[in-house]
Amino acid sequence: MRGFAASVVAWQQRHGRHDLPWQASRDPYRVWLAEVMLQQTQVAAVIPYYRRFLERFPDVGTLAAASQDEVLRLWSGLGYYARGRNLHAAARALAAAGEFPRTADGLRKLPGVGRTTAGAIAVFAFGRRAAILDGNVKRVLARCFGVQGEARQWALAERLLPRRDLRTYTQALMDLGATVCARARPDCDRCPVARGCVARREGRIGELPASRARKALPTRRATWYVHLQAGKVLLERRREAGLWGGLWTFPERRLRGAKITRRLPALEHGFTHFRLRAQPVLCAAPGNAAPGQLWLDLADAPGAAVPTPVRRVLRALLPGGTHQPA
Ligand code: ADE
Repeated sequence: MRGFAASVVAWQQRHGRHDLPWQASRDPYRVWLAEVMLQQTQVAAVIPYYRRFLERFPDVGTLAAASQDEVLRLWSGLGYYARGRNLHAAARALAAAGEFPRTADGLRKLPGVGRTTAGAIAVFAFGRRAAILDGNVKRVLARCFGVQGEARQWALAERLLPRRDLRTYTQALMDLGATVCARARPDCDRCPVARGCVARREGRIGELPASRARKALPTRRATWYVHLQAGKVLLERRREAGLWGGLWTFPERRLRGAKITRRLPALEHGFTHFRLRAQPVLCAAPGNAAPGQLWLDLADAPGAAVPTPVRRVLRALLPGGTHQPA
């Protein structure tokens, strides 16, 4: 087991990633922000968001002082918006407490921080000895040790922790999973632990980790009423609890007296537990916005706190877009 940590640490020093923007700092705020953004989201997608976010909110205080609407506007397009809402709530709690928790157990009490994120922050910001187990690490452990199942993998992850070089070791696990031990066609020739790898030895790379049987996701249908009036578009703020809570979307009911003028191309969006099939329809609107709704300049609307499918429809309505109003 000793050999595993030493091998991946040596590999990380030569072949791992060293130029990720969040690696430049041990500031717990920056580390926390990066780890939350990196939940369920690839490095390449996170980088521009991370930079923009830090420019606007360089520390916990500025984030805590911002409105949720502004936080979600900067988060808009990154998906999984509960992360943005939790981040903002946590910033307010941290600002009130006046300091960051310095242990994985303390960090886990923050909204939006689970066991892996807490472990990563504890390691990268505070040099603690803490384990992580994200999707990439699960795959590495399943293949290398033939160990599957959440509880057994956590126990293994804890046992494997070296006494020192925790930052390099943790980054090594992430990088190995992301670059070498890929789900499809892993590059075993470049793997520092290929010699001891159970999956390779037993010819089970394709079956480890066992993929969970994917249930067919249900489809939810919605009609989006795209009300236009004098260069403005009507948006509605989603209530807090939903997936898009706090974001602005098209109303799913027509304003009184609004006339449908045209159907726009339907679009689909995948969520974790269902697929959304949305049918946008253009309406000429005479009317007044209902409570919770807002007329926004069409030119400004794509820059508001809107989810990606809504932004696509809005962009297509702009001059040069693919479906301009008749
Ligand atoms: N995924 C989660 N945390 C990460 C990090 N710090 N670097 C690269 N990928 C990650």
